[in-house]
Amino acid sequence: MTVKEIQDEILRLKQENDICILAHSYQAQEILEVADYTGDSYALSKMAAQAANHTMLMCGVRFMAETVKILSPEKKVLLSNTIAACPMAEQFDKELVLRFKEQNPSYTVVAYINTTADLKTVCDVCVTSSSAVKIVRSLDAQDILFIPDCNLGAYVAKQVPNKNIRLWHGGCPVHAAVKVSEAQQAKASHPDALLLVHPECVPGVAELADYIGSTSGIMDYAVRSDRKEFIIGTENSIAEHLQYLCPDKRFYLLSKSLLCENMKATTLVDVLNCCQGVGGEEIVLDSETLAQSRRCIDTMISLGG
Ligand code: 13P
Ligand code: SF4
Repeated sequence: MTVKEIQDEILRLKQENDICILAHSYQAQEILEVADYTGDSYALSKMAAQAANHTMLMCGVRFMAETVKILSPEKKVLLSNTIAACPMAEQFDKELVLRFKEQNPSYTVVAYINTTADLKTVCDVCVTSSSAVKIVRSLDAQDILFIPDCNLGAYVAKQVPNKNIRLWHGGCPVHAAVKVSEAQQAKASHPDALLLVHPECVPGVAELADYIGSTSGIMDYAVRSDRKEFIIGTENSIAEHLQYLCPDKRFYLLSKSLLCENMKATTLVDVLNCCQGVGGEEIVLDSETLAQSRRCIDTMISLGG
């Protein structure tokens, strides 16, 4: 089958089987083309909660499918490829957080949305990369433990200097691997380009950026800007998608190593298999996990995240 034939069959099957396809912006172009919704992790969950379909198929990583399930517990939620899991989401476990809370009762635990549903059950509030600064600023708490990403946490701490923000040493192995020297070299090679980076990059790289923001933030910035050249400091698929969206602009990779193999685990054939009812994995969460992780996400929503 050609890519086009597979896409046509997916489009037919998703209608026949009442499936809504959600694709994170890090997915390949041929997957984005068959999706009902595309965007960053939080935008996709919000769209999923509003969609009327019986089945939601998440083309992304496991914590994203779990977030869809938490916000839409009555729906059947499928993860497109069972091995697609964000390593950062699994860096800390519940027991560690519970012990910290016991020893540090004044602290509010803020969890990046890139965490398992299980970990969210013992955290106080969730944030996304686009809402982290706003949520932390608006919290009625002075002492904050920010997990798991110490780079995003350091970025938030810089923007909210009046709070005592404690960090643990976790983070995204893909973004954190970008070296300051690579950013310096990219800027030297493309002196007219703006450097746009995700806050999961190390502070030394973020300091060199012209704009720091979430996946959607970076895309919106580049699309709206009057400038013509950009160095993209997040997963390399974003440079490719931007090049499709803005053929008159030029997008350069910050680093060849900005490839998330988990995000890339899903293929178009995986999507076809899921639509045929023979692939992926159904997300199942018990009622206690659903309720407690939902509390963490609802607190974020109530604070405007
Ligand atoms: P966004 O929340 O910006 O979609 O980020 C998800 C992610 O995994 C970034 O690496
Ligand atoms: Fe996780 Fe990093 Fe991949 Fe995003 S890019 S899914 S944070 S490993």
